[in-house]
Amino acid sequence: MHTLLLLPALRALHGGLGIPASYGQERGLTLQPEATELVGVGLDIMGREQKLTANTAIAWEMLRKTAAAEGIELQLVSGFRSIENQTSIIRRKLAKGQPIQDILKSSAAPGYSEHHTGRAIDVTTPGSVPLEEVFEGTTAYAWLRREAENFGFRMSYPRDNPHGVVFEPWHWLHSG
Ligand code: DAL
Ligand code: ZN
Repeated sequence: MHTLLLLPALRALHGGLGIPASYGQERGLTLQPEATELVGVGLDIMGREQKLTANTAIAWEMLRKTAAAEGIELQLVSGFRSIENQTSIIRRKLAKGQPIQDILKSSAAPGYSEHHTGRAIDVTTPGSVPLEEVFEGTTAYAWLRREAENFGFRMSYPRDNPHGVVFEPWHWLHSG
């Protein structure tokens, strides 16, 4: 079902997680519809099957193969995530005692994650630490900064972005 049709349910969910009603507006973030048509793109670094939209899957494959031909290994950490998955991630962090305001610096509120669209990828490379800022120092990141836009990808959360999200050099969104 389209995210917008679920807005009252989403508001209630946010309330339960302690996410303020002003979240989207304050951070300049918009609702991200959940993809309904996805294709498998193989296993991520944790051995979980990942899915992306068909166009993003093609773009990711081209990106990965072109990088590989230039001696750069790009690995997938995460692709599509449902609103339910995102909620579970946030609940796990809350259960560990992390305050919601801290959690929201690295996890988008359910309904607002670009991963819902099936067009966002988190990537890493051997020798780096997945989902950590150290990825910035890798040749893979330097290559992505030069080349990713040619494949339709842009980095969503640069340093000091206006969305209150930490610098995420690993997170790239495909234009679809
Ligand atoms: N880590 C990004 C902000 C997300 O949760 O979608
Ligand atoms: Zn991401």
